[in-house]
Amino acid sequence: MLSPPVVELSRRLASMLPPSLSKAMFLSTGGEANEAALKLAKLYTGKFEVVGFTGAWHGMTSGAQSVNYFAGRKGYGPMMPGSLAIPAPNAYRCPVRHCRDACDGTCLDVGFDAVDAQSTGSLAALIAEPVESAGGVIVPPEGYWQQVKQHCRARGMLLIFDEAQTAFRLGRNFAFQHFGVEPDILTLSKTLGGGIPLSAVVTSTEIEAECNAHGFLHATSHVSDPLPARVGLAVLDVIEEEELMARAIEMGERLAAGLRHLQERHEIIGDVRGLGLLWGVELVTDRERREPDAVIGRAITERCMELGLSMNIVAIGTMAAIWRIAPPLTVSAEEINRGIAILDQAIVDVLAASTSRAAE
Ligand SMILES: Cc1ncc(COP(=O)(O)O)c(C=O)c1O
Repeated sequence: MLSPPVVELSRRLASMLPPSLSKAMFLSTGGEANEAALKLAKLYTGKFEVVGFTGAWHGMTSGAQSVNYFAGRKGYGPMMPGSLAIPAPNAYRCPVRHCRDACDGTCLDVGFDAVDAQSTGSLAALIAEPVESAGGVIVPPEGYWQQVKQHCRARGMLLIFDEAQTAFRLGRNFAFQHFGVEPDILTLSKTLGGGIPLSAVVTSTEIEAECNAHGFLHATSHVSDPLPARVGLAVLDVIEEEELMARAIEMGERLAAGLRHLQERHEIIGDVRGLGLLWGVELVTDRERREPDAVIGRAITERCMELGLSMNIVAIGTMAAIWRIAPPLTVSAEEINRGIAILDQAIVDVLAASTSRAAE
């Protein structure tokens, strides 16, 4: 039985999405929504292999975890059979050592060559964050998702966009609208529930009907719960009434300008990239060699906390040291200015301390 808020939320999302994304199911977490999406893709195609991106994060349930290539893979034995990875299009650190600063899509072709070599002939889907978040805020170049979709179509695979982080944050309701490519299945969570566990998996009438005919089952205690659906409707009302997407663009521009200003001031900032209110800042020992500066990165992060700013450092280690900056959609201009000022102060303090230590 579906309650009125669930039907209403489903209709509301369909009205915001293209006609090819008009069937929704509501669950609790982002991982669960991805789990359901992967099941839909497997049932629809009759295949089981799933391709993900290096650096991706899709959740902690087994199916979603199997296509996490960011963290949490080690020590749990085999992942789902048929879990394959291709390199994320990181223009700052080209995964195939081919480009520098502008990705030309070579890594995608290399990735699909590797997929074809490893596949047992059962490719069901490719799952991706339109802008990879935990993996370091990787914004793909123009035309990239079109190429991905072509690769998927050529192999009969479905394209799943996991918009747990990117929906309602990048200045458009959905990140795929920035890139002009519609997924076959879309998953939403985080912002949709505004703090309440609410996630959605959305697909086409055709995929839904076909999966239904094949007995698709993803039942949980909290599937289609009315309370979170009502919250979801309230969140969408607030996003619309308070024009939070326009605000994400405006505040995002302010944040980007502030970060670029810091990059001009501090050699340690190698790269600044992002969209809307999701930004990544790479810390390097020198800009030419681009060695990640994880030690200083950690020290500045700690200093920021002392000064009252919580910074999230991701992809830490030998690969990279990157701050992922994702302020609330309601962030004010003053808060952004203050955050940038604290970050500046923290960088100055830590660099001064390390220079004086070196002099001793
Ligand atoms: C892109 C992405 N997908 C899925 C998830 C998993 O969501 P949840 O933690 O609600 O299961 C996350 C969580 O951080 C995420 O960032």
